[in-house]
Amino acid sequence: MTESAPARIFPDRTEACRILAAEVAELVRSINNAGRPAVLGLATGRTPLPFYAELIRLHQAGELSFANVISFNLDEYLGLSHGHPESYRTFMERELFSHVDMRPENINIPNGNPDDISARCAAYEKAIRDAGGIDFQLLGIGRTGHIGFNEPGSPRDSRTRQVELDPITREDAAPSFGGLEHVPTHAISMGCGTILEARKIALLAWGDGKASIVKEALTGPITDQVSASFLQEHPDATFYLDAEAGSEL
Ligand code: GLP
Repeated sequence: MTESAPARIFPDRTEACRILAAEVAELVRSINNAGRPAVLGLATGRTPLPFYAELIRLHQAGELSFANVISFNLDEYLGLSHGHPESYRTFMERELFSHVDMRPENINIPNGNPDDISARCAAYEKAIRDAGGIDFQLLGIGRTGHIGFNEPGSPRDSRTRQVELDPITREDAAPSFGGLEHVPTHAISMGCGTILEARKIALLAWGDGKASIVKEALTGPITDQVSASFLQEHPDATFYLDAEAGSEL
């Protein structure tokens, strides 16, 4: 393990999320107190659910406001109909945004409409730059070692773009889509380069199913075959793990 990508192993995911949410709340408050909006990079999947639940709890307890937060989501499936239950926009509304005081105009999620993709990807990158860059980026990890949807072969300096989903990723998504044939083949994803420019990064992973890819990402070679391995070179990236996900370290 390198010094630059430490792993923090917690007894369970609830405790990990309690600690991380307190840290993120503190970061948001201190940035807001300095007179600027906090810019959060957000992720989807099952992994961040207890983290979002804890952010909502802090918000309801009056300890965290999102009124001065700008968010950028990592990715979105390509070609799903508006309001599709599996779209990441629907997910974010359901799991976080509808429960907190985010301003709708401060929410950014890649648009999965298949028209004019490269112009929209460039605009997404520009919006991140115009917001001052990402203060804190939340990540999960896929079975292929992807962050966002940066599948094996995604270059270190890749930017927001259209990507083709790995067969393993599509297989993992099949149950929630009601079958492999309904899983999109492509997505829009922030690139590895986009993600690595975030000032602070937390990658979350739970359960023994993630143990071997977590070990590879943290202690294996830095390679575009495991995009999470690029985090080893980031000055402030931390893996938040439960005991099972950390069991091979
Ligand atoms: C998808 C998302 C990733 C996420 C991964 C893992 O591929 N694009 O951002 O990290 O799934 O999903 P889960 O958290 O459900 O294991």
